[in-house]
Amino acid sequence: MRRAKFPAGFIWGAATSAYQVEGAWQEDGKGESIWDRFTHSPGNIVDGSSGDVACDQYHRYPEDVALLRELGLRAYRFSIAWSRVVPDGSGAVNRAGLDYYDRLVDELLANGIEPFPTLFHWDLPQWVQDAGGWADRSVIGAFAAYADKVVRRLGDRIGTWTVFNEPEVFTTHGHQHGVHAPGLRDPGITLRTSHVVNLAHAEAVRTVRAAAPKTRIGSAFNMDIAYPASEGPRDVAAAERHHAWVNAWYLDPLVHGRYPLAFLDQDAAIAQMDIRPGDMASLATTFDFIALNMYSRAIIAHDPSEARFGIRQLEGPGRRNSFGWEIWPAAIHRLVRRVDRDYGHPALYITENGCADATGPGPDGRVHDASRVDYLARHIGQVARAIDDGCDIRGYFAWSLLDNFEWAAGYSQRFGIVWVDFEDGRRRLIKDSGWWLRDLVAGAPLDYDDALD
Ligand code: FCB
Repeated sequence: MRRAKFPAGFIWGAATSAYQVEGAWQEDGKGESIWDRFTHSPGNIVDGSSGDVACDQYHRYPEDVALLRELGLRAYRFSIAWSRVVPDGSGAVNRAGLDYYDRLVDELLANGIEPFPTLFHWDLPQWVQDAGGWADRSVIGAFAAYADKVVRRLGDRIGTWTVFNEPEVFTTHGHQHGVHAPGLRDPGITLRTSHVVNLAHAEAVRTVRAAAPKTRIGSAFNMDIAYPASEGPRDVAAAERHHAWVNAWYLDPLVHGRYPLAFLDQDAAIAQMDIRPGDMASLATTFDFIALNMYSRAIIAHDPSEARFGIRQLEGPGRRNSFGWEIWPAAIHRLVRRVDRDYGHPALYITENGCADATGPGPDGRVHDASRVDYLARHIGQVARAIDDGCDIRGYFAWSLLDNFEWAAGYSQRFGIVWVDFEDGRRRLIKDSGWWLRDLVAGAPLDYDDALD
């Protein structure tokens, strides 16, 4: 065991996203988003719920900022709802929508908390979807125009912009698996969409850089580090294909100028993507940092009967969170080492990491979410291990500050370090995990296992 050390200036924060916490889905001129449409269509969300009210952060943000402060956290990662800022296809800016984020940013700064905004965390305006959404190239200019407006309004107070949250998830879950908005199930559209998403990403980075030249710009990528099921070359190659499709498909074209080898028949896949002359050049991007969202890992075996990737995902032996995701703390260390190696020792943030656990208030009125405390301690320990190995990790954000609307799972999965009572006025209550994180940030010792694999 070794004692965890974090560099001076290391940023400790907590994360949320607009649709998951804000509520106020129709207030102050906000337009409809694809998540409003999706949740209001029966059968899409396990408990039939929506983010119409969610945590009501739109009205209660001063209370949530006070919670961050009480927890000693120095940064808040939140996202901006495009449909609040540009409600309809006229493209006109809704001043009241931007005013909300203006107030939030000022409240954070007044409390000594760094705002860490994300420009897009999945809640595409419905008017953009009606024009073809992420599958249609018109989104590229629409997204850049929105980003420009936001950055010009808030940029004087923002040091770090995150452009996308998890491009792989909103592309694949929304267009191939149909479990997220807009609910499509079409692998061909997904491939084409992935390329448009990448083009829009690169264009937005250029736009943000032009609007705020001194700001650091990055994006948050979901990464599921792949453990080959065996040391055999076929399993190792299969794990690489999984890595390419899930982890690298939305990063390599931008920073390495090529799509990684993911498909058994890569040429056939590429042929479906509508890559036009000049596209690969316009993808070329540099990021000031790479942000990683990490929850679990994938164990991958070669399986020739699966036609696209030739892979099969196996169940691991680790304990599971309430969502059923395997808990494997060494995976965050392995992931960071891989990203450090593959992308030239970049500045890194962990922008999401956390554990689904339903534990609520006990007879003593406190929330003893022991499994989340254990999860955070082990994962943060492995982050410290990667720092000791020389990786340039600048900050860690717990997902999530609050229990919130967990997409297709509705309110059935809780990730907060603060309990939200959705039955009783959305009362907030700091959980044991929140107090534990506060103590860590204040300097409490943490030991990690440097032999985990
Ligand atoms: C991530 C999302 C975040 C949250 C967590 C549990 O994929 O970015 O909004 O739902 O999963």
